[in-house]
Amino acid sequence: MPLIPVNEPLFTGNEQKYLSECIQSGWVGNGPFIERFEEEFSRYIGRKHGIAVSSGTAALDISVEALGIKQGDEVICPSLAIISTINQILRVGARAVFVDCDRTWNMDVSKVKDLISDKTKAIIAVHTYGLPVDMDPLLGLGTFVIEDAAEVIGQTYKGKKCGTFGTLSCFSFYANKIITTGEGGMILTDDEDLAKECRRLRDLCHTERFHHDRIGWNYRMTNMQAAVGCAQLEQIEEKIAKKRMIGRWYDALLSHLDIKRPIGKTDYAENIYWVYAIETRLRAKQVIEGMRKEGIECRPFFWPLHLQPIVDSAASCPNAEHAAGYGLYLPSGMALTIEQSCEVAEALRKVL
Ligand SMILES: Cc1ncc(COP(=O)(O)O)c(C=O)c1O
Repeated sequence: MPLIPVNEPLFTGNEQKYLSECIQSGWVGNGPFIERFEEEFSRYIGRKHGIAVSSGTAALDISVEALGIKQGDEVICPSLAIISTINQILRVGARAVFVDCDRTWNMDVSKVKDLISDKTKAIIAVHTYGLPVDMDPLLGLGTFVIEDAAEVIGQTYKGKKCGTFGTLSCFSFYANKIITTGEGGMILTDDEDLAKECRRLRDLCHTERFHHDRIGWNYRMTNMQAAVGCAQLEQIEEKIAKKRMIGRWYDALLSHLDIKRPIGKTDYAENIYWVYAIETRLRAKQVIEGMRKEGIECRPFFWPLHLQPIVDSAASCPNAEHAAGYGLYLPSGMALTIEQSCEVAEALRKVL
């Protein structure tokens, strides 16, 4: 067990109270917290409909399927992202068209327009590590937009919450996210028909009980997860403030090191520092191993999707490849103390 974990959650609100309500009532699978969490979360972000699901991966699978993406279609997406971005694209036999990242580690949106073809059905915008994707250039291109806001719950783009831009927007509540339900996710949309289809896909596409007209999934969230989600959502502003404070600590502590640090502010957003990501001159594996020996857990960046063995792509994404080789993130969990951040900075100085 590392002395300083990479991204642990913190439960300091009504989690236990709401969980015992579930257990006492017997509603542990389906139950009233699910609808409540859907309503409260969609209101917080500012969308009409919320569909709670079992993970962020499930939210993305359902979104791609609900938009009718099929064999022969193309979907533009970042290379530096989690595999969940493309799982369902690959499953249905559509083609993922990869875009390199820029200095913010997000998709380089200046490259997107030239990649649009008459086969392009959707763009997946994945807000990565804390700064949002520059959304404006992606809107109005005649495609669906799936917004993946898993890592930036509560972040804004030009003053509007991330997750308000996508035809469908996806969130994750995995244990390392800004608010957590252990495992869990949510799809948000303003489109009532799409919301209905997402609900059906989440629940095996029943027409009536045990009759099915489309291949769906059991991707339901439990009442117990939703109960924890409601309690976590009550604390979201303090959680965001804590992430930003950790960002400021590391900025101050690491400013003398020759490393790439996160950009704090752009003209469209202020970093929310879901994780404090860095690139150094040493390979990430070597730095992570060195930090582990110091009792500190760090994590590598995503491995580029265009290089994955399950992907057949000739895309050129040199920035993503470099970031994957040299990028890692430092302990950024909700319980991190200023003393621990000093220990992390001192260990990093030693390792580098
Ligand atoms: C950007 C992004 N999208 C989707 C996911 C997948 O979410 P989950 O782990 O809940 O399946 C993650 C990671 O957890 C992520 O970081």
